[in-house]
Amino acid sequence: MPDAGNVRRFIEQFALLVDQHAQELTELDAAIGDGDHGINMRRGMKAVIERLPADSSAPDVLLKSVGTSLISKVGGASGPLYGTAFLRASKAVAGKVVLEPADVVILFRAALQGVIDLGKAVRNDKTMVDAFEPAVDVLQSSLENGKSMTDALAAAKAAAQAGSDATIDIVARKGRASYLGERARGHRDPGSASTALLFTAAAETLGVPAGGLGAPGGGLGAPGGGLGAPGGGLGAPGGGLGAQ
Ligand SMILES: Nc1ncnc2c1ncn2[C@@H]1O[C@H](COP(=O)(O)OP(=O)(O)O)[C@@H](O)[C@H]1O
Ligand SMILES: [Mg+2]
Repeated sequence: MPDAGNVRRFIEQFALLVDQHAQELTELDAAIGDGDHGINMRRGMKAVIERLPADSSAPDVLLKSVGTSLISKVGGASGPLYGTAFLRASKAVAGKVVLEPADVVILFRAALQGVIDLGKAVRNDKTMVDAFEPAVDVLQSSLENGKSMTDALAAAKAAAQAGSDATIDIVARKGRASYLGERARGHRDPGSASTALLFTAAAETLGVPAGGLGAPGGGLGAPGGGLGAPGGGLGAPGGGLGAQ
């Protein structure tokens, strides 16, 4: 079960994925927003890594640090939204050393609720909620049905990506893209793409035992888990950030 080591690797992997996809996130936002989502997220996650407590053995302390860094460093909508998500996640697992399956569900459900409470978006408003909510729903149902953490997180990642894909065909009702009306149709929502990266990072780190980078099935360069994994990453055929 995930512990502070897994949570730390999750945060670091999310920062890495955001850094690697910053350009694509910004291009998506340039199409239907103001072209800063990748810049915002990269700046925010860089600050997160710089400020992450080096010696903490508590998941909630790490998650709280992420939330505070994002809120203080990112000016756009996404900073407060992701920041609140991480702060709520921290509160949800306060005092826990090891996260049982139910704790992992509570963590991500609380994070999603933070986004919803702050942004007031619902499904199909063409926001990060369109990726976040199906991911949490699938994570919960998978774990409740007895799937392993690894399988449940992989299913959640796939649901987040499918949810992000579905934003392409809809008109926005929240955020800057809502000013565009029909013109937003045909473009992926940038925040949904970064949320897909969040669940990709979770799938690559929370469901696997600590073993350092390159560990089988675990680390950054692990087969089947990496950025360029077939059918997995945002750059996968037919599903990529630049697909539309
Ligand atoms: N009210 C909201 N609820 C949920 N997500 C939102 C909301 N407003 C914007 N977003 C998300 O934030 C993303 C834009 O983030 P970013 O570009 O960093 O901020 P800004 O829109 O201030 O420039 C959108 O693609 C969308 O997913
Ligand atoms: Mg923007």
